[in-house]
Amino acid sequence: MKGLILSGGKGTRLRPLTYTNAKQLIPVANKPVLVRVIEAIRDAGVNEIGIVIGETGPQIKEVIGDGSKWGVRIAYIPQESPDGLAHAVKISRDFLGDERFVMFLGDNVIEGGIGQLISDFAHNDWNSQIVLKEVENPSSYGVAKLRADGSIEQLIEKPKNPPSNLALVGIYMFDHHIWEAVNSISPSWRGEYEITDAIQWLINAGHRVYPHVHKGWWVDTGKATDMLEANSLVLEELTPSIAPNAVIENSQIDRRVTVEAGARIINSTVRGPTIIGENTVIENSYVGPFTSIYYNVTVQNCEIERSIVLEHSSLSDLGARLQDSLIGRHATVHRSEGKPMALKINIGDHSSLWVV
Ligand code: TTP
Repeated sequence: MKGLILSGGKGTRLRPLTYTNAKQLIPVANKPVLVRVIEAIRDAGVNEIGIVIGETGPQIKEVIGDGSKWGVRIAYIPQESPDGLAHAVKISRDFLGDERFVMFLGDNVIEGGIGQLISDFAHNDWNSQIVLKEVENPSSYGVAKLRADGSIEQLIEKPKNPPSNLALVGIYMFDHHIWEAVNSISPSWRGEYEITDAIQWLINAGHRVYPHVHKGWWVDTGKATDMLEANSLVLEELTPSIAPNAVIENSQIDRRVTVEAGARIINSTVRGPTIIGENTVIENSYVGPFTSIYYNVTVQNCEIERSIVLEHSSLSDLGARLQDSLIGRHATVHRSEGKPMALKINIGDHSSLWVV
């Protein structure tokens, strides 16, 4: 079996971070979401993986390379424009051949891996298997209607009267019948080749499509709030550790804190679950639960909680506690010195700022 990860797309909902980087490379608990996806596929026993890439392909290639760091073989499949998930499948035909494959959206984070799903599909003669998850607000998702025998009868996008509370998660398994499906469908009203249309085509053609209902949590990290939620959930699962060369001086660090190599925590309080990245310096500060601070960051005289701070950023002397925030790379957030005492903002396009 082969794996296919979709890492093209535009990532408009995560601007401005996605102007300069792929959203799949944004870290959750200091590890890019895409790396978590690769590890989940590898841990299920699939070592040959194709990654569909778009405009941010060069950054993805630079970080992931040939995959050997994670014990997998990676092939890159360029998608000229983000014409939909079914289009991404269509252009992957040469890589996938007629083998069965698992497809995983490169911006999804799931609890507990996909080993069971892969083994279910391997031991059945179903043509496709789709991961579903019980949700509280099915009207916001693609929803599955099941038949009495448990197979999927219909997929409905954002239904007003949902036939079930089972929403589509971004993980799918297909056999070679998917090729006829993706070649038969037309673009939807939004101009994309929809994977739900391809699956519905399979069902209508009499092929057997079965669900796998996922019991753990699952987050689609499409928006900043989802990133923060995924970060909190993954941090809760993380086994804490303190790197031998980390420096902790005159500080209170609780036991759910991970401190990576070369980090320095001085005169500070850090409450977990939290991760402090490589060579990051925390000084005279409070870092509260559900915070991930990536590498080479400086935090001085600040209070920060439930946030993600990316590499090479610098935060100092903030008068208020920073919370529920996503700070990009090489960003600076400082207290304004001198007069006039005003907010001075130099912020990118499509950024959001909440002031108190
Ligand atoms: P989406 O989140 O649906 O789309 P997007 O990444 O363009 O984001 P936004 O809606 O904020 O503009 O995509 C889900 C995943 O599939 C994501 O990892 C990107 C990937 N993808 C492709 O590889 N090719 C495509 O044509 C599309 C639409 C998405």
